[in-house]
Amino acid sequence: MMNMDHYLECIGCRAHYSSTEISYLCKSCGDLLEVRYDYDNLRESIDTSLWKARPMTVWRYEELLPLDKTSQRVSLGEGGTTLHKSTRIAERLRLKRLSVKDEGQNPTGSFKDRGMTLGVSKAVEIGAERVACASTGNTSASLAAYAARAGLECVVVIPSGKTALGKLIQAMVYGARVVQLEGSFDDALRAVMKSAQLDKSLYLLNSINPYRLEGQKTLAYEVWDQLGGEIPDTVIVPVGNAGNISAIWKGFQDLNHLGLISDLPRMIGVQAEGASPIANAYRRGLKTIEPTPNPETIATAIRIGSPASWKKALTAVKDSKGSMETVTDREILDAQRLLASLEGIFVEPASASSIAGLKKLAESGAVNREEEVVCVTTGHGLKDPEAAVHLCEKPITVGKDRNAIRRAMGLHA
Ligand code: F0G
Repeated sequence: MMNMDHYLECIGCRAHYSSTEISYLCKSCGDLLEVRYDYDNLRESIDTSLWKARPMTVWRYEELLPLDKTSQRVSLGEGGTTLHKSTRIAERLRLKRLSVKDEGQNPTGSFKDRGMTLGVSKAVEIGAERVACASTGNTSASLAAYAARAGLECVVVIPSGKTALGKLIQAMVYGARVVQLEGSFDDALRAVMKSAQLDKSLYLLNSINPYRLEGQKTLAYEVWDQLGGEIPDTVIVPVGNAGNISAIWKGFQDLNHLGLISDLPRMIGVQAEGASPIANAYRRGLKTIEPTPNPETIATAIRIGSPASWKKALTAVKDSKGSMETVTDREILDAQRLLASLEGIFVEPASASSIAGLKKLAESGAVNREEEVVCVTTGHGLKDPEAAVHLCEKPITVGKDRNAIRRAMGLHA
């Protein structure tokens, strides 16, 4: 069962659009769109024992992924990432139950692959020949890989000099046309949106594309599955362009609409202090964000001043009774080191912001000992080794003298 009733709905004026229409923004009010389902139908037709029989990948939950039955899936084996019980960090933070959802395990090393498997399958379904995105790095790496797999042309626009080398190389080696823009991610996104408006042959796969978020929401289903049909009290997510926190919240809401869970977790978003327009709006109780004109942070993945999905993210945080937190670059780097050295999980700086946020919240008591907490870490540490190299002690260089080698190894000479 794949061809379920779904349509697109504007999150502002609630206008409806057919799922066959290619649009990213509402034609009447310009707001973002989201995929909506007939949950009554789905409740009748979904058999979760079928899910259990399938491997844990994004496509385990195919009934909730809006792709036509006859369409070809473009997949690299995404999803099914480990939910690590993280007892050593939990102990350090005086918590009882903490898990880390390690999205760096995805095929191109970030959570973006969950969205791209569906988004690029959709591109093939509608007969697109070219796909495009703006990116701080991971989206471009992921899109380039899935486009290669599908045989589509791919063009990515990234901020010049501010994209981690590992990600840049991925996009290049997968064969995308890579455009480095002298400007920020926000400039790049504006540019590709304008291009997609003018040139209909370009299918845009930023997270304003509602299908991408449908893929990303499967993280919530997996957490529920991995906790044995339970949900955590609190889910902590790094926030940049704000698609992912919105997608994960939508995933939990799906489970709720389907009657599979009765409670919902609270969603806590973490931004880098130098790029935190959503956290600022949340703290000040504003209805809209005030963009950060020159965002700056070592966590280049979330160096975003004008997040496209800010409204969806604020709704997720408010509706779930969650919150937004900010962390400094120092706190991010400390958390990156802590996660690697206590749990063996090496993540890139943006990912570590969820751990840095948790540390602050645990210290202030805003997250308490009795809670079941899941921190999402979004991308692999090897994407950006330069950011991590200064954190660590330098390797010890020795000559061939046997005693010197033993001393260097920390043994008695
Ligand atoms: N963590 C990592 C590693 C990311 O690459 C991103 C976003 C985020 C967190 C934030 O997710 O934007 O959904 O709030 N990276 C995008 C990119 C912007 O272009 O790769 P978000």
